[in-house]
Parts: sequence; structure tokens; C-alpha cells
Amino acid sequence: MVVLADACHHDLAPDALAFPGARWGKMATSIIIDTDPGQDDAVALLLALGSPLDILAITVVAGNVPLDLTVHNTLVVCDVANRSDVPVYAGAGGPLEGVLVTAEYVHGPTGLDGYELPDPTRHVSDGFAPDRIVELVMGHPPGEITLCTLGPLTNVALALRQEPAIAGRLAGIVMMGGGFFEGGNTTPAAEFNIFVDPMAAAEVFRAGIDIVMMPLDVTHKVLSNAARVDAFKQLGNHAGEVIAGWIDFFDRYDREKYGTDGAPLHDPCVIAYLLEPELFSGRFCNVEIETESALTRGMTVVDWWGVTDRAPNAQVMREVDADRFFALLTRTVGML
Ligand code: RIB
Ligand code: CA
Repeated sequence: MVVLADACHHDLAPDALAFPGARWGKMATSIIIDTDPGQDDAVALLLALGSPLDILAITVVAGNVPLDLTVHNTLVVCDVANRSDVPVYAGAGGPLEGVLVTAEYVHGPTGLDGYELPDPTRHVSDGFAPDRIVELVMGHPPGEITLCTLGPLTNVALALRQEPAIAGRLAGIVMMGGGFFEGGNTTPAAEFNIFVDPMAAAEVFRAGIDIVMMPLDVTHKVLSNAARVDAFKQLGNHAGEVIAGWIDFFDRYDREKYGTDGAPLHDPCVIAYLLEPELFSGRFCNVEIETESALTRGMTVVDWWGVTDRAPNAQVMREVDADRFFALLTRTVGML
């Protein structure tokens, strides 16, 4: 197991008020990735699968598209990376409460539109994802596994309900979700991953786990502009060509909505943090999830200015070195 330099050593943004103890321990690089592919999840998976990270399992959740498609897409992405060695487990088909909200309007009807790929060469592995998360975490020494979540947190909440002790054994969770100064992307207040299952997010953020949070405030700063997409095409390999196709499809929505030059590559921020934590900076804050209000359900209430007495529970990232992020991503994908 390769252990990264202590994640505490990356610099906080100059204006960040680092709360005493505002540092987490090492984020281990034996990981479980929980995902709902979606093109940006797929890019994150290729970054992880092409990196030295020790991927114990990929667990799948419904989100961008229904579970049967997120499972299919995960298996397809593993084939793109020639990594059928990594077990893939199906998880929750919907949130803890209420009905599933999906995002075909962003990702297309398949969830992975933009590049035609063959059906997967294997079937999903046996077992329910939350059960597998519990087994893996309880079967490894404390602090050895980092959970990387790229979608709604339903699988993680179900695993915590089944075995609360995983909270104390995980090295931590690095998650994509939420937003504060940036607001929401699904409602004015809520980002998609949290909006789909706010109850699950609330339970995860209250579980006492070391959390590194990648909200829209930081993911909207890694935009796949034309030069960056071209860099994937110039790699001359299959993975680079596939990613360029996915982004060409995926970025139309954000370009139109935000008028930006390219789409934000949300989920790869999670994996990039494990590989090069110094690319990111932020602040140790309290984060609570709104689960009641019809108007703001799924909002991540981030106490960035420390105006409450609520204990900080997450390292909330707000800044990223976007050029180095894309250099890492392109370099790693080029090795697939
Ligand atoms: O809001 C962006 C997040 O929701 C990303 O993880 C994207 O894949 C979707 O799951
Ligand atoms: Ca996702």
C-alpha cells in the first residue's frame, strides 16, 4: 500500500482560516470508489484505474441514470482501461427516502453518451455494494481504506447503518458533492449528488468520519476547454479518444447553462486529491445538510466563516491548480 504524503501538508488558501486541528491524517491509497457513471465519473474511474492507487472495489449507485445503466457503464469503463480485475458491485437503486431523480438531461439517455463502446466483457460481481463496503473495511486494519464517492451517498449510508464501526476504521472519505458560494446545480440551493439523497448525506456527514469535500466551488474551476480536450485527442490512445468523445457530449449542457468554456470535470477532483493533494486548498469547516425544507432540501450548509459553534467536520476545498490537475489527468490517461 502506498501512503501519500500527509494530506495535511498541502497549503491552505492564503485567506483560509485554518481552524486548530484543521488537518486530517493521511488519506490511504487503498480505495473503494462509489460511483454513478456519468461521463465525469467515467473520467475519474480512468484516472484511478491508470494510477498507482490500489482499487479494492468499485461500488455502484443509481444517480445520473438508473442503476442498471450505472452498473453497465462502470463495467464498460473498466474494459476501456483493461482492468476487469477490479470487482464491481451493484448497490442502491434509489435514495434512502423518496424517488430517484436522474440526470439524463446532462449525461444523455445511456449516461455515457458521446462515444460508442461495446458491451462489457464481464458481469457485475456478486454481492450488494453496502455489504461489500462493510466487509472490506472491517476486513482491513483501521486507517487502510479511503472511500472515494462520486455520486449520491446512499451506499455509504446503508453501509454505516449496517456497521457503524466502519466510521472509525476508514482513513476517510473524499467526496464530490455540495456547493456553498457557488450555490446548487440542480436547485438554486442543492448540488445533484446531495439533492438525490440528502438523508444519506446527512448521515454520512454526522458519522464522525474524516471527510474531504469537493463542492461545485472547486469543481467549477476545472473546465475542459478546447485545448484540454485536444490534449486528450493528442494522446493517440483509445482512452484519450474516448474521453474526448465523452466531454464533447457532456460539456454542451454546462456551456449553455453557465456560458463557460468547457464542462467542469467534477468527479476526477476526488481521485486527483488522492494522487496530488497539494493541487487543492480549502478550509476545515462544519457542514450540515438540509433535509426538511422543500425550498432548500439537499443544500450543504457550509460554515465557511466559523459563525456557529458547530464543530468542523470536513475539509472543504475551494481552490485548485487547474493546469496541474489537467496535466495529471492527461499524463495518467496517456499511460492506459
Ligand atoms: O453535480 C455533479 C455531480 O453529480 C457529479 O458527480 C456528476 O457525475 C453527478 O453525479
Ligand atoms: Ca457522479
